[in-house]
This record gives sequence, structure tokens and C-alpha cells, in this order.
Amino acid sequence: MSEKEKYTELVREIFSRDSSPRLACVHSYGCQQNVSDGERIAGMLSEMGCGITNDMNEADIIVLNTCAVRENAELKVFGNIGELKHLKEKNPDLIIAVCGCMAQQEHIAEKIRKTYKQVDIVFGTFALAELPRLIYNVLTERKPQCDISERREDVYEDIPAVRSCRYKAGVSVMYGCNNFCTYCIVPYVRGRERSRTPENIINEITSLVNDGCKEIMLLGQNVNSYGKGLEPKIDFPELLRRINRIDGDFRVRFMSPHPKDATPDFIDAIAECDKICKSIHLPLQSGSDRILKAMNRRYTVEDYMKIVDYARRVMPDISITTDIIVGFPNETYEDFLGTLDVMKRVKFDNIYSFIYSKRRGTKAAEMEDHTSDEDKGKWFRELLALQREISDEYYKRFMGKTMKVLFDGPSRREGYITGKSDEFVIVEAKGTASDIGTFKNVKITETHNWAVCGDITD
Ligand code: SAH
Ligand code: SF4
Ligand code: F3S
Repeated sequence: MSEKEKYTELVREIFSRDSSPRLACVHSYGCQQNVSDGERIAGMLSEMGCGITNDMNEADIIVLNTCAVRENAELKVFGNIGELKHLKEKNPDLIIAVCGCMAQQEHIAEKIRKTYKQVDIVFGTFALAELPRLIYNVLTERKPQCDISERREDVYEDIPAVRSCRYKAGVSVMYGCNNFCTYCIVPYVRGRERSRTPENIINEITSLVNDGCKEIMLLGQNVNSYGKGLEPKIDFPELLRRINRIDGDFRVRFMSPHPKDATPDFIDAIAECDKICKSIHLPLQSGSDRILKAMNRRYTVEDYMKIVDYARRVMPDISITTDIIVGFPNETYEDFLGTLDVMKRVKFDNIYSFIYSKRRGTKAAEMEDHTSDEDKGKWFRELLALQREISDEYYKRFMGKTMKVLFDGPSRREGYITGKSDEFVIVEAKGTASDIGTFKNVKITETHNWAVCGDITD
């Protein structure tokens, strides 16, 4: 029996003395990988005998699974931890745990320990499987627990997930990141790259599909460097081809590939495989070679354009989305104009843009920065306005076409539902709750800069 199993049993035994099952609420912030970790935390809590709830007010155990990627993400978490104080006052037996990327940083763990006495457990990304032991210690020792030590970087295969959605699932294919982009905290809080075996990935996807799952999102901080260190050798294009051979009516997307590893074979695999969505989220970050170098991104604007041109050559309708950072240290207006220029050349379907946020411990945090916050804010608004124009124009290409859509919820418009097409475009149509979680063909009759609308045909 593993340590995790041993403590799971011990906690289960303590909880079983209660008259009704304890309820646990896991709230994840940040990226899909973190959400996926949150589902496994819920899985462990369920193994300990807890019921799972989305309502913190009725929970006996609250886990905040945090993100550290930008300062505002951290501020939000601190605000939420603060708010939990009154719940703890009402229910002194409430167990509050803070974990994830923020907690992995020593200065943050220290701040939580000192300032937020309502928190019982702080544990980092390396200590996921330690949760049963930490809960056991809180129950028996009645004092706060902390585990942010960096362990051997492992892939956990024995932690079950409690998934929040039956028709869409995130499946991690690799963990960690080796890239050390100079602005980014992720490599410091998630450790080095390690990949799951193709067998484990395929088994997980096969069982999800057999359970009726319609969309699989392959997850990794740098998915297309998948396979490093695995024997027998395998790379990401080969993994896509193998997944494509799984029987069933489902589609596959992935997040995020890195441009430096986007080989022609990677593009060919997307083009060849009918289950792989014809959409790529390919983070550009900046359209200035000088800034890309300072960011340690290891590609130039022309390298990036070559990938885009090749992808469009083999898949003319492919949708390309991206991440952009505005205001990296000492970015000039000329650098920024380079970014606008690439946006006009590529015509992204959508961009996720962020104002640079200084992260303690990263290389960029040590760089001098003479660009004012005012300029950064002005440029950011300019970028958003340009993208609105581009999407407005570019979404018109879908007018009159039929798109395959997986509907996932009601729209704000009465009587309408919303979902995503294979191209990852938001699609709205008149529909009912019974259409949710199923694929439908929609003939597009209206396009906007944020979505398209149409009628369900079959
Ligand atoms: N591994 C993924 C991205 C992870 S973080 C990749 O490389 O694409 C998601 C996005 O957050 C990044 O693409 C970047 O645009 C943004 N980001 C990361 N660190 C940031 C920082 N310090 N300030 C502002 N944006 C940041
Ligand atoms: Fe961060 Fe760069 Fe790694 Fe993405 S590739 S997680 S931006 S270091
Ligand atoms: Fe945030 Fe950690 Fe993901 S820092 S973006 S939750 S890997």
C-alpha cells in the first residue's frame, strides 16, 4: 500500500464516524492544467469519502488551487482567502487548503502562513499526492501543515479525477516546462518537462470516449515537445496520429504548442487526422525580434510566419489564435508596432492579450524598464481595437458555411444556446437544453467580431 493509500484510508476512517458525509469544494484558478489538477484533488477527496460541492458555504473542506502567472491572478486569490475568514469563524472545523502554483513559491507560502491564520494547509504543485497525509495531520495534530518541498518530478497515474463535465475533458500529456521564457513563473513552480506514456494517455482517452466524452483537450505547457525521455521514442505528431485512430465520435484539441517546436510534421499531422480540430493556439508573445530574444522565445517573426504560411497552405480555413504580451521591460512603440504588423499579416481569429506583469524570481524581473504604465495601457487598448477590426472582417469567411458545433450551455440571448465549432469559434443558435453536450451542424447566417450565429440544420 502506498503512503497516499494509507493516509486516504486513515482519513476515510475518521470521516466515516460523522453522521453525514463531509462536503469538499475545490476551486481552481488559472490554466486548464491547473483545472485538471483540481479535478484530481477532487478525486482524492472523494476517495477519502467526501461529497463534492461547488458551494463554499456548505463545504467542510475548501481547497483553493491557485495560479501565479500574473500579479492580478495572485491578488484575486489573496482577496478570496481573506473572505474565507468569516466561514472559518462560523465553522471552526472547516479545513481550508491553499495549493497550486502560488503556494509553490516560498515567499507566498510564508505570507499565507503569517497573515492568513484561517488557512490550515499550504501545499505546492509537487505535493499533490500528499493531500491525504496533510489532512490526516490537521485532523490529528490540530495545527497548520505546509508542504512545498520540490520532489522528484513525477507523473502521477494513480490519482483518479472527478470531472466537472461529462462531454468535455482535459487530458494532460506532459507536465512542467523547460523553456524559461524570461517573463514566466511557470518553470519555477511546475518543474521540468516530463511526459506520460502514450499507453496511459490512449487508455484514458478511450475510456473517456466510451463514457460519452465528445471533446478531448490535450494539455501541456509545451505540448509539442511531448515525448522527451520516453522509450520507445515518440513525438507529439505521432501521439496525435495514434489518438486519431481511437474509435468513436469525438474531437481533439490541444494547448499550447510552442512555435519553436512547430515542425512541418506537426502541421501535417493536424491536417491528416480527421479527429484533430483545425485550429491552433500558437502563442506569439511579441512581433519584435528584439523583444522575442529578450523573452528567450527562440524563434523570430519570420520563423513564426513560416509556420503560419505552411499551416494555411495545407489547411486554408484553419483558425489560429495567440497570446500576446504588451509592455515587456523596455519595449518601445516601434517594437509594439511590430506586434500590430504581425497581427495584420496573420489575421488571428482571436488573441489573448496581457499587460506584462513582473514575476519575482524570473529573469525579466531583474531587467530595467523605462516604459511607462500609461504607455503600456494605451498600447494595450490600441491592440484590442485592432483585433476587434480583424476578427470582425475575418469571421465573415464563415458566412453561409456549415460548422460542426459542440454546444455547452445557454446563451445570454433568451432561447439560444452557445458552443464552439471545430475552429474554436463561438457559435450561437436557437436550441434547447437537450442539444447541450452534442454535436450539431449549424448553418451560419450572422457574423460578429466575437462569435458567429446560425441555425441548427441537423
Ligand atoms: N505554456 C504556455 C503559456 C502559459 S502562460 C505557452 O508557452 O504558450 C499563458 C500566457 O500568459 C502566456 O502565453 C503569456 O502570454 C502570458 N504570460 C505569462 N507570463 C506572463 C507575465 N509575467 N506577464 C504577462 N503575461 C504573461
Ligand atoms: Fe512559460 Fe514559456 Fe514555458 Fe510557456 S513556454 S510555460 S510561457 S516558460
Ligand atoms: Fe497559472 Fe500555474 Fe497554469 S501559474 S497559468 S496555473 S501552470
